[in-house]
Amino acid sequence: MKSLLTSLFCLLCVSVCRVSAIYVPVREYAGTSFFDKWDFYGFYDNTTWGNVTYQDRANATSKRLTYINGAGNAIIKVDNTTNVAPATLIYRDSIRLTSQDTYGVGSLIIIDALHIPYGCSVWPSFWTLGVGKEWPLVGEIDIIEGINLKANNQVALHSTPGCFQAQGVIQSGQTIEGNCSTDAGCIVGETKPNSLGAGFAQAGGGVYAVQMDVAGVFIWFFSRPDIPDDIKNANPSSSVDTSKWGTSSAAYPATGCNITQFFGPQQLILVTTLCGGWAGEPGIYAQTCPGNCVADNIIGPGSPKYDNAFWEIRYIRTYLADGLQAPPAASTTIPPSSTMQGSGSSSPDTSSTGNVRPSSWAVLRSVPCSEFLMIVVGVGALMLL
Ligand SMILES: *[C@@H]1O[C@H](CO)[C@@H](O)[C@H](O)[C@H]1NC(C)=O
Ligand SMILES: *[C@@H]1O[C@H](CO)[C@@H](O)[C@H](O)[C@H]1NC(C)=O
Ligand SMILES: *[C@@H]1O[C@H](CO)[C@@H](O)[C@H](O)[C@H]1NC(C)=O
Ligand SMILES: *[C@@H]1O[C@H](CO)[C@@H](O)[C@H](O)[C@H]1NC(C)=O
Ligand SMILES: *[C@@H]1O[C@H](CO)[C@@H](O)[C@H](O)[C@H]1NC(C)=O
Ligand SMILES: *[C@@H]1O[C@H](CO)[C@@H](O)[C@H](O)[C@H]1NC(C)=O
Repeated sequence: MKSLLTSLFCLLCVSVCRVSAIYVPVREYAGTSFFDKWDFYGFYDNTTWGNVTYQDRANATSKRLTYINGAGNAIIKVDNTTNVAPATLIYRDSIRLTSQDTYGVGSLIIIDALHIPYGCSVWPSFWTLGVGKEWPLVGEIDIIEGINLKANNQVALHSTPGCFQAQGVIQSGQTIEGNCSTDAGCIVGETKPNSLGAGFAQAGGGVYAVQMDVAGVFIWFFSRPDIPDDIKNANPSSSVDTSKWGTSSAAYPATGCNITQFFGPQQLILVTTLCGGWAGEPGIYAQTCPGNCVADNIIGPGSPKYDNAFWEIRYIRTYLADGLQAPPAASTTIPPSSTMQGSGSSSPDTSSTGNVRPSSWAVLRSVPCSEFLMIVVGVGALMLL
């Protein structure tokens, strides 16, 4: 009897507890102002050891590696006009962008792209990196990541020990690794078609979204024809409702990983490197590409090898869970990343979202079934009295 009651209440709980928060817009990176709120790395790849030099803003602009195209979309590309000569140190120009704003628990990030870089040696990623402390103390979330001619995206969380993907989660993707503190992170492979590469571009691109909630981290991929109306019809000032999006590609509920403990405020990073520690690892490179990663791609003319090594982005939009207060001033809270990087100021509305409080819905969603049952029984008993 008790178990029947529990099941009944849990059914109710699932329908109520899993209702997602409504998210209100914070910022849109799009059109002619797309590049305004990012820092350009301006240094060689000293984190993944790819054979690239990430250009600064002035070079990126003058070399036409970043620009807004005729359709109003942001183009971010690898150099395909230089004939790179063999040398001791081999570099091709590329771009790494870091957002000046940070986004903490309670944030939602949506990227709508028409093209993601691909080709042998090419390693694009759109990810978030926790700021203020050494990696991975404040976490990392990999949203888009591809290498070479690999056709499917994979996502991952990176953390210090103690964060796992819970067993038996409801997601459409396939779990590859469940322990988020391993070198690879806790990985989920995308199973829907056209998530990367030529397939992504030919399908008209699509949307990736990541929800960073006290109840968990959830990541969706939608190919262009499958984008839910809620996102498709949204404009830069409208709220979105993640409960209308269906099952996510990857789900990392808080039952396996205490999100507020392992993830602090995150910067967004959009980058394309070449070869390096994953794409260029000989055994991995050979899975989808012939020859040698550096010698057969980076060295020599840039075209046609790097003609597809570009991002074309319609927008990146960021949101906060409805009910979360925009923090008043940065001085008493976590310093904004832009200050730490010593660059231009960022508006106070989003610069320290790390101190946001969970919304009531988010709290409700994180209540375990058994406790929810007790709450319902308690409220029921009170009403009978
Ligand atoms: C990479 O180089 C930049 C610029 O010199 C430096 O600020 C950063 O700390 C370096 N990162 C690593 C991981 O060495
Ligand atoms: C800018 O481009 C010039 C010419 O290619 C190069 O010498 C310089 O190192 C570049 N600067 C950066 C930060 O990459
Ligand atoms: C580039 O590629 C070569 C050859 O694979 C490699 O030895 C080197 O370490 C890479 N990095 C740089 C910066 O040249
Ligand atoms: C998770 O990975 C970390 C780092 O590799 C390791 O120390 C730990 O034992 C792993 N935990 C489990 C349960 O496998
Ligand atoms: C999760 O972590 C936060 C911050 O460290 C802590 O306050 C909270 O009690 C933790 N929740 C659980 C269920 O352990
Ligand atoms: C570089 O690639 C773009 C497409 O991304 C193409 O339009 C252009 O012609 C290429 N540049 C050269 C020099 O071939």
